[in-house]
Amino acid sequence: MGEQAKDKQETNRQITWHNMAITREYREGLLHQKAATVWLTGLSGSGKSTLANALEQQLAARGRHTMLLDGDNVRFGLNRDLGFSKEDRVENIRRIAEVAKLLNDAGLIVLTSFISPYRQDREAARAIIGDAFVEVYVSTPLKECERRDVKGLYQKARKGEIAEFTGITSAYEEPEHPEITIDTSGRSIAECAQELLELVERSFAKK
Ligand code: ADX
Repeated sequence: MGEQAKDKQETNRQITWHNMAITREYREGLLHQKAATVWLTGLSGSGKSTLANALEQQLAARGRHTMLLDGDNVRFGLNRDLGFSKEDRVENIRRIAEVAKLLNDAGLIVLTSFISPYRQDREAARAIIGDAFVEVYVSTPLKECERRDVKGLYQKARKGEIAEFTGITSAYEEPEHPEITIDTSGRSIAECAQELLELVERSFAKK
């Protein structure tokens, strides 16, 4: 069924990879689509969640099978044990990349909206997910994110009430080679989502 043989073994841990009969390609065929992970990265308030939500609706309207993993939401469940230290953010992104890969193996088009501030972590996510990875830099400038301050967090961070807040007291490393960059300031979400939809449909969704 087309999947490369994965003769993986970890002798220390007594584990061996099992190749299963129903592969990603087979599941993609059932769903009439090609799986992808559309990875949105950018500051808090840059519009990642809103954009991912709009894109998912547009994909769903076209009959695509999708799943949206959102930073805040995932921290209510799977990642409820993680905070915002460097170490915890690394683990946050690692887990999300692994989950996205599993969902891709299920044939789904996955949208993720996490700040994912560190370049190295996003590159690690790309390595886990492989060719299906589409990095979207939501480049809305800090000034605009802070002006919006939808959750009132920038104000709190400026007052020193939130430690290690991205863009204020914690770094955000801009992507160097994202597949696409979208600045949501002065543009409608519908317009931004349409641009993303075209990229996804062009490169991935068709099967
Ligand atoms: S990430 O850096 O680990 O990728 P993630 O996207 O999961 O972050 O979560 C970001 C959300 O957590 C923000 O939108 C905000 O609501 C909340 N948050 C709480 N504390 C912080 C902080 N110190 N830095 C950034 N976001 C924070």
